[in-house]
Amino acid sequence: MDSVVVLVILLLRPGLKWTAAAEDVSWTYTGLVGQSQWSEHFPECGGSSQSPVDVVTTQTKYDPGLPPLTPLGYSQHGNRPFTLYNNGHTAVIELPDWMSLDGLPWLFSAVQMHLHWGSGGPSYGGSEHTVDGQSAEAELHVVHYNSELYPNVSAAMTQRDGLAVLGILIVTGEETNPAFNNIINYLSRIRHANQRVFIPAFDVQTLLPKDLERYYRYNGSLTTPPCFQSVIWTLFHERVHISKAQLLKMETILYSSKADEADRMLLQDNYRATQPLNHRAVFTSFAADSGKELSSGEVTAIVIGVMCGCVGLAVIVRFIVKTIRFFTFLRHETAAVNSSTSSWDVLTNNRAAPMQRLQQSVRIIDLLPNAHTFTFLEAPINIDFPRRRKTNK
Ligand SMILES: *[C@@H]1O[C@H](CO)[C@@H](O)[C@H](O)[C@H]1NC(C)=O
Ligand SMILES: *[C@@H]1O[C@H](CO)[C@@H](O)[C@H](O)[C@H]1NC(C)=O
Repeated sequence: MDSVVVLVILLLRPGLKWTAAAEDVSWTYTGLVGQSQWSEHFPECGGSSQSPVDVVTTQTKYDPGLPPLTPLGYSQHGNRPFTLYNNGHTAVIELPDWMSLDGLPWLFSAVQMHLHWGSGGPSYGGSEHTVDGQSAEAELHVVHYNSELYPNVSAAMTQRDGLAVLGILIVTGEETNPAFNNIINYLSRIRHANQRVFIPAFDVQTLLPKDLERYYRYNGSLTTPPCFQSVIWTLFHERVHISKAQLLKMETILYSSKADEADRMLLQDNYRATQPLNHRAVFTSFAADSGKELSSGEVTAIVIGVMCGCVGLAVIVRFIVKTIRFFTFLRHETAAVNSSTSSWDVLTNNRAAPMQRLQQSVRIIDLLPNAHTFTFLEAPINIDFPRRRKTNK
């Protein structure tokens, strides 16, 4: 009964059509109205602040003023079902507007999320953004509009700073990611374009990486026509993992064609090529070094290095202390024996000194860490004397 009510409400809603004009031309990723032709029909696609981009990490700028992003209400889905639909370009999930984003100059409310993927593994691409030229296998986009300045997404999407999109790079690993099954398990129900289905609501935050503090930030556009240059982009540094089987389902279940069309077209490679950065800067919320995780080998090397450094420092300090004590002793001796003789003279003359002086020289040697330390005094003490005075101990 609840579902029927929600269905009626959804049917009455105006829907998320970007603009009336955009619906007049059906665009694709390849073919007659492929991405290189988009700008002929949608002028903004030829603009100078387009998305996606390749993030060249050595050319990013650290902005210490970029705070962690805080999703608000992502986990409170309210047990109302979500709507999942195939729009012929991707699988879209509409999001409730109480889900929002804190950590940007304005409050942004959630609109929808969708995915981009390739057609068979990393060498074929799949993500829209790339980092240092490297693609991920897929990419999740969570779209928000500036609900502080604009009444709805249609009004916001044409304005600079009207939208905020979170970009999450997806790579494959061994393990199944249960959060993504909340979407992938239902793709078989929307195989054809324009099909839609209710799916159980779930905690959207579980789709995001754990680390929401480290991200790339730049000003860009929608990555599909009409390519409005209205998006504050946040691309997270941490990637999320799904299994190869999950990726394969994403890549092979959907069609871009409608159910009644004779020619079935697989919905694959629905990612746009990276666009020139032009005058734009890409900022990071993190300093370059903090992005590296240390391996256990590196940690061991650092610990050993620090220990060696401490031991070395201790030896040097010991040497300095002994040297100071040695010179202090010499000064006392010089003063006692002959006020006009320098400490150097005491040493050079020690061979000719009386018996009492020789015994004192033995004590000088005892104060030093080892015999080598004497070489800088130019006139080493006669080595006939015992090095260590063991009898006193
Ligand atoms: C969005 O807001 C604008 C401006 O207030 C209004 O004209 C338009 O009808 C609204 N669109 C929708 C879909 O609610
Ligand atoms: C995006 O553009 C706005 C307005 O021009 C500017 O204030 C802001 O600094 C830009 N942000 C980035 C990340 O370049």
